Amino acid sequence: MRIEMFVAGIMAAVLCLPAYAQGTVAKPRSAAQKPPPAVSQARQEQEKIYGTRGEDVPATYVTDRALLSYASTLMPDFIHTLAGLGPDDRWLDIGAGQGRAVLAYYGERFDAMHPEGRERRGSKAQSVALSIEDRRTAEWHKMAAALEPGKISYLHGRRLREYTPAELGRFRLASDVYGGFSYTSDLSLFMARILDLLEPGGSFYTLLINVQPETAASAGTKSTAVFQTEILAGDGKPVTICAWLKQIGCAEVACDTDPRSETPIERYRIRKTCDKVSVPVLEPVHFAAGTPPARQFRLTKRNTP
Ligand SMILES: C[S@@+](CC[C@H](N)C(=O)[O-])C[C@H]1O[C@@H](n2cnc3c(N)ncnc32)[C@H](O)[C@@H]1O
Repeated sequence: MRIEMFVAGIMAAVLCLPAYAQGTVAKPRSAAQKPPPAVSQARQEQEKIYGTRGEDVPATYVTDRALLSYASTLMPDFIHTLAGLGPDDRWLDIGAGQGRAVLAYYGERFDAMHPEGRERRGSKAQSVALSIEDRRTAEWHKMAAALEPGKISYLHGRRLREYTPAELGRFRLASDVYGGFSYTSDLSLFMARILDLLEPGGSFYTLLINVQPETAASAGTKSTAVFQTEILAGDGKPVTICAWLKQIGCAEVACDTDPRSETPIERYRIRKTCDKVSVPVLEPVHFAAGTPPARQFRLTKRNTP
């Protein structure tokens, strides 16, 4: 059953995805068109994964990665950027699952492992963990009660795109480890939202599994016939995720592949350089539920406002 769900994500026949699917601008109910049955089914399958609990959670839907895992999965400077935040800074973890990475940041072990900047860190940055479903544990509630009020918060019940910038405020640092960046069906809107939330000079760290890599260094890594996330230009030619990110206005983008990983994983750091952000719009073309889902987008000539 679990394997089937994962395999379905990779192998299922690609399904047309309308612009009003998860991750897109919310339309009034009356204006929204009814999605084709196949799409509704794919979206419902994805919803089911978020709703799983206990034994029913697919083995491949990992929600309890530790901060050490974030540090080894994201670009190496992520952890130093986190360690360098001060008490007036804010960190957003998008797709936080159980929020274990956030909890570890407030533990003594983090300071022991990162003695540099300890004084500057003081009581540490404020953190916001975002998840569609509530996966908080007893450990989360205990830490939230022990820290000063408002130091950590866990927001659930909505996708990133369903919050207004005013609700979330601005952040110095944002991270996403197999969260919304891997799961959303509207990647350009997702990206535009994150950049809205970053302060100029702030950075977003994320990654994608099984994509066409940008760097020559990745040429030796194992490749599979079907990419998990794929962008095609109007003429049908593939556009790498990195090349698309590099077209974003007011963003400085770095991409690399993890040389230690057998699976092709590309890591990204997107630094916001000014407020006039514009993201080349990607139209969702195909979507198949999974952990993460398989997605295909078409690059348009339009930019987000
Ligand atoms: C596989 S879990 C990863 C959890 C955690 N980052 C970890 O590595 O343990 C995926 C997480 O992304 C969240 N997610 C998926 N799409 C999202 C979106 N559009 N906005 C916010 N959260 C999203 C899910 O609710 C879940 O918390």
